[in-house]
Amino acid sequence: GESVLYLAHRYDIDLEGACESSLACSTCHVYVSTEYFDKLPDPDEREDDMLDMAPMLQENSRLGCQII
Ligand code: FES
Repeated sequence: GESVLYLAHRYDIDLEGACESSLACSTCHVYVSTEYFDKLPDPDEREDDMLDMAPMLQENSRLGCQII
């Protein structure tokens, strides 16, 4: 699938994604609107671990490279 990170780059939205989706950074951090957030599968443990390091973490935070 095409991740949110992939789509952001494709449509010129400024989202970094320094590790190229390998779950080694948190620079693809995004906020998901609550309407969609609840529809996403829960983050796996590796995503959660990286998310914990993201600045400005919120309830609706996810890593853009993991949203497919
Ligand atoms: Fe690094 Fe998503 S691009 S974790």
